[in-house]
Amino acid sequence: MATSVRKAVLPVAGMGTRFLPASKAVPKVMLPVVDKPLIQYAVEEARAAGIEEFIFVTGRDEATIKDHFERDEALYAYLAARGDDESLAATASAVLAPGTAAFARQEKPLGLGHAVFCARDLVGDEPFAVLLPDELLLGDPPCLAELVEVHGRTGGSVVALAEVPQAETGRYGIAEVTGEDEGEALALGGMVEKPDPPRAPSRLALIGRYILQPGVFTWLAAQVPGAGGEIQLTDAMAAMAQEERFHGVRFNGRRFDCGSPMGAIQATIACAMERPELRQELLSFLREVTPSS
Ligand code: UTP
Repeated sequence: MATSVRKAVLPVAGMGTRFLPASKAVPKVMLPVVDKPLIQYAVEEARAAGIEEFIFVTGRDEATIKDHFERDEALYAYLAARGDDESLAATASAVLAPGTAAFARQEKPLGLGHAVFCARDLVGDEPFAVLLPDELLLGDPPCLAELVEVHGRTGGSVVALAEVPQAETGRYGIAEVTGEDEGEALALGGMVEKPDPPRAPSRLALIGRYILQPGVFTWLAAQVPGAGGEIQLTDAMAAMAQEERFHGVRFNGRRFDCGSPMGAIQATIACAMERPELRQELLSFLREVTPSS
């Protein structure tokens, strides 16, 4: 797929406090959904959108993530000697081609905006994607591919949105819609990070997929800590949306917040149900553990 968006930033330097103690020694994004770590779902979504370079913003967990996406010669030789083609294919699916993965270090988790800012030299002067891997999005077309397609028509910056209950606006960045639908794209005039429900400009939440113009780095450089004392990506985007083209696209697929145990459990069940070899046994098990009403 020819695309003007070649690079994706995947920030994974957060502390993952909602997933302690599992996330103490294992990065949250390396926890499995069925048999694949969460981060691999995001990489596959990015690949399907035509992304060619993957920039991971990491904290203390860089080595584990690097290892996952590199070819492991010893494992490869072991599986090849056994003729285990299925496992060979599974390991190969996790390998990123040499030179396509890059790592930027975020020394301290100062916020998502700061994490994205840490990737500025690797991104350079071109529009780029950001994917928050703990948001697992299952859609056809995949969410980022949809954003790339809309970006091809609208230019500027484009973010994915989903409607949330009014009572939950305080958990998200919330979009301020200013324009009519342009196809599936809504013109945005701003956004607010974690507004209390009465202050929320809409019920459309940003759900962790973005295509941003490189100008966002200038706004991020000027940011002071916002909600929660963190340098917020939403605040930089809000400033940018007042001056440049900014669109939102409603995501109609399924969304799982795998940063929390409940989201991860639901994602695991949803993904397992789509696997023919797992589905029947899982259904029987769910019936067994569900008390009859
Ligand atoms: P979250 O707030 O969902 O992740 O950030 P967290 O901070 O790791 O989790 P909790 O709230 O403590 O449980 C969304 C994404 O942004 C990254 C996280 O790793 C996650 O992928 N992030 C967040 C950073 O890379 N750096 C930060 O300073 C903050």
